[in-house]
Amino acid sequence: MTEETHNAQKIGAPEDRVLIFDTTLRDGEQSPGASMTLGEKLRVAEMLDSMGVDVIEAGFPIASNGDFEAVSEVSKLVKSATVCGLARAGAKDIDRAGAAVKHAKSPRIHTFISTSPVHMKHKLQMQPEEVLEAIAFSVRHARKYTDNVEWSAEDATRTDRDFLCKSVEIAIKAGANTINIPDTVGYTLPQEYAEIITMLREKVPNIDKVILSAHCHNDLGLAVANSLAGVAVGLRQVECTINGLGERAGNAAMEEIVMALNVRHDLMPQWTGIDTTCLSRASKLVSAVTAFPVQYNKAIVGQNAFAHESGIHQDGMLKDNQTYEIMLPESVGISKSTLIMGKHSGRHAFREKIHEMGYQLADNELQEAFFRFKELADKKKHVFDDDIIALIDSEVARGNEHIKFVSLQVIAGSKGPQEAKLELDIDGEVKAVKSTGDGPVDATFNAIKELFPTRAHLQLYQVHAVTQGTDAQAEVSVRLEEDGKTVTGRGIDTDTMVASARAYISALNKLLVKRLRHAPDDIAALQI
Ligand code: KIV
Ligand code: ZN
Repeated sequence: MTEETHNAQKIGAPEDRVLIFDTTLRDGEQSPGASMTLGEKLRVAEMLDSMGVDVIEAGFPIASNGDFEAVSEVSKLVKSATVCGLARAGAKDIDRAGAAVKHAKSPRIHTFISTSPVHMKHKLQMQPEEVLEAIAFSVRHARKYTDNVEWSAEDATRTDRDFLCKSVEIAIKAGANTINIPDTVGYTLPQEYAEIITMLREKVPNIDKVILSAHCHNDLGLAVANSLAGVAVGLRQVECTINGLGERAGNAAMEEIVMALNVRHDLMPQWTGIDTTCLSRASKLVSAVTAFPVQYNKAIVGQNAFAHESGIHQDGMLKDNQTYEIMLPESVGISKSTLIMGKHSGRHAFREKIHEMGYQLADNELQEAFFRFKELADKKKHVFDDDIIALIDSEVARGNEHIKFVSLQVIAGSKGPQEAKLELDIDGEVKAVKSTGDGPVDATFNAIKELFPTRAHLQLYQVHAVTQGTDAQAEVSVRLEEDGKTVTGRGIDTDTMVASARAYISALNKLLVKRLRHAPDDIAALQI
C-alpha cells in the first residue's frame, strides 16, 4: 500500500459503479426519537446531494402531511440526485408519492409489499396470489407517474425462494427498473444473502435489464457485511443511512460501505460516487439534528476511529502512519483538530474558513455565526474546527424563534435548593422569573416552564463536550414529546446551564412550529 493508494478516492469501470441510495430521511427518520423538522431534512438533503449520493429517499408521503411536504420540498431543492418517495402497493399511497416527487429533476417512486409467509399471513392477511397481483398493479400504477420505479420485496430474505423469483419476475414485467432485496429484519448472513442474489440473477428472466439493490438491517450487526456480499455478486445499488440510523438496530451505514469499497479496492473493484471527505461532516450533521450520539468507537466517523492511545501504537504512528491506520483521517474529512482563529480574527477570515469547511451560509446566517464566534473567542482560548462546526450547526438549525434566550443566572452547589434566574423574549416581550429545582438543570427547566407552560414531556437530556479541556463548549440535546410528536433541540455554550436552556428553548420553538401550522395566529393558545 503506497501513500497514494492510502488516500486516493477510488474510481473503477462503469459496470462496477455502485449507486448509493440514502434513506436517512425515511428509514433513518423512522427510528424512535429521530424525527427531524422540515428545515433539518432540507439541510440533510442538501448535504447528501452535495456529497454525491445518487438517490435520496426523502420520506413516505402517505404517512403524514409533514412527510409529504418534506418529500415535495426536498424534490424542489435537490440539484443532482434522484429523489424518491416510498409507497405501499395501493393506489392512494402511489398517487401521494407521485405528487410528492413531481418537482424533482429526477423523480423515483419506490413501492413495496411483503413476500414472506409470515408477513403475508399475519401482516397483510393476503394470499400469495393476491400479493402477486398487487405487485403487478403497484408497479404499473407507479409507472404512470415516472419511468423510474423501484420495487422492493419486503422481508425478502425470509421469503420462499421460488416465490421471490416469481415476484421479482412480475415486478420487472410490470416495468420496475430497480429491484430491491431487503433483509428487513436483519436475519441473513453474508453467504446466504449472496446466494439469494446469485439465484435471482440465474433464474429470473430479464434480471440483467434492472439494477439489483440491497437494503440490509443491522439486527445481527451484519448489515454492511451482507450489503457488500451482495455487491460482490452483482448488486449495483446499496440502500444505507448516515451513521447507520434506521429502524431498530438500524440500516447499513453509508460511511462504512463507501470506505470498505474505497479502502479494499484491491479485492473489490466496485466503487461509488461519494466524496468521502464529506463523510465526517454528514455524520456530525445527522447526529446533531437527531440527537443520536455517534458511539465513540464507531467505524469511520467515531471520535476514537483515528485515535491512538497506547505507547506502542503512538510510536508506530510517529514512524509511519500506515502502521496503524488503513485510511487517512483526512480522506473521510477529519482534520487534525486545527486551531483556527482567535478573537482578533476578522469577518473575512471567518468567511474563508467557513467556505473551506464546505458550508454555504446565507448573509444573515453568516452574520449571526460570526457574532457567536466572536462571543465564543472571548470566552475560550482555543477555538477549533469542531467548535465552529457545532456553532454553525446550531445556528443554522435555528428557525423562526418565538421564544428567545436572553439571560440566565444559576446558583448551583451542594446546598440546595438550586436556583435559576431566567429572562426570555417571548414574541418580543421580555419576561423574567426566578425558580428553584432539584439541581441547576431542573431549576433552569422549571424557570422556562414557568415563563412558557406547555404539556411537553422531557424525553431526553444529553450533554457532551465539543472539544477537550474545561473551557470546552457544552453541546446539549433535549428531546420533548407532546401528543406523540417528538422534537429535538440543541444548545451550544461554554456554560453547560446556558447550553441546556438554549437546547430546551430550541425544542420548544420546534414544537411551536409544528403546532402553529394548526393555529397560525395564536401563540398564547399554545400554552396551557
Ligand atoms: O426494511 C425494509 O424492508 C424497508 C422496505 C420498505 C424497503 O424499509
Ligand atoms: Zn428498512
